[in-house]
Amino acid sequence: MIALQIKPRGKPIKKLPNSVEVDLSTTTVKALYERIAAHTGLGYHRLRLTKGSDGSHLVAKHQDGKLIQIDEAGLRDNSVVYVKDLGPQIGWRTVFVVEYLGPLLIHPLMLYVLRPFVYSSSPLNPLSYLPFAPSFKGNLPPPSFNQVLVCWLTTLHFLKREYETLFVHRFSAATMPFRNIFKNSAHYWILSGINLAYFLYMPAVSPTASWWPKSLDPMQNPNVIYAACALWLFSEASNFHTHMTLRNLRPSDGSTKRQIPRGYGFNLVTCPNYLFESLAWFAVMILSGGHWASVLFLVVSTGQMMAWAKKKEHRYRKEFGRAYKKKSSMFPGLW
Ligand SMILES: NC(=O)c1ccc[n+]([C@@H]2O[C@H](COP(=O)([O-])OP(=O)(O)OC[C@H]3O[C@@H](n4cnc5c(N)ncnc54)[C@H](OP(=O)(O)O)[C@@H]3O)[C@@H](O)[C@H]2O)c1
Repeated sequence: MIALQIKPRGKPIKKLPNSVEVDLSTTTVKALYERIAAHTGLGYHRLRLTKGSDGSHLVAKHQDGKLIQIDEAGLRDNSVVYVKDLGPQIGWRTVFVVEYLGPLLIHPLMLYVLRPFVYSSSPLNPLSYLPFAPSFKGNLPPPSFNQVLVCWLTTLHFLKREYETLFVHRFSAATMPFRNIFKNSAHYWILSGINLAYFLYMPAVSPTASWWPKSLDPMQNPNVIYAACALWLFSEASNFHTHMTLRNLRPSDGSTKRQIPRGYGFNLVTCPNYLFESLAWFAVMILSGGHWASVLFLVVSTGQMMAWAKKKEHRYRKEFGRAYKKKSSMFPGLW
């Protein structure tokens, strides 16, 4: 048996023991987490344990899911273990489900239920006083074919994301801080939910943006609609394929193993999933006739994915060295 000295890192933690005795050869790091969680009454995932000697994170499992023993982790008699309370946590999957639920509900609700109320020109409707509220004479015109199409494609996109979150992705982290749910959801609920739905389903005299080329007007040229739908379908199917490739890099749920993804899309760029995602939103932008609301969402989300893709490319190089062949992060030859 050995004794480990336990100290708080950051704020003091109530009922944190000063030391715990463990069997060096049989105790796992996971069991140590569980002991401290039971003492303090804090959930397992709220705790972050680090080694006093070098400040490194004490992880409970190897990448293949095998539990790590205390001695394997480098702890000895009288080693100091720091404990940090990460605050209330929420399931990683739950955050994604909630994020995508916003646009998934907002789009069909807006087009099929709320449209007559939101765009009503009645003086009783507070939204009619907004500077960008639509102006039309007589009754509210029905949604155009393009508006219905955009609504269906957006809804299907987020249905797919929900399916992938629940049944495809093998996430390495179980939880994240609770407050993240608000920050993460804002992007989807506001930018791809309220922003797109309010502006794209608005009755407009001329739905196509003035800067958009006349020959590519989806309201006039059905070929533009066919091409945009084909691009959307190709991009969504390809994005799904890349997510299946990423899933298959891990042998089972709970595994944190990382490998170099190869094959369809990954031979071209490091993050083809982001490339295909942005192409799908590009197709929606075409169908909206270059409306500024869809341009805004396309620019913000593509910019975010470009930044993440760059970071991921650097991480692969650092992690896998020569085994990883340097390539563009997201757009072949460009980024
Ligand atoms: N429209 C937007 O604004 C926007 C923005 C971002 C993402 N998205 C969409 O959401 C999708 C998922 O995004 P994401 O950022 O979570 O993608 P991601 O980082 O590529 O991860 C997807 C899943 O694959 C796993 N994974 C990634 N690389 C791996 C590797 N080398 N070895 C083993 N597993 C690996 C991840 O595990 P970990 O849990 O370990 O990371 C995660 O479970 C994107 O493809 C895109 O379609 C949309």
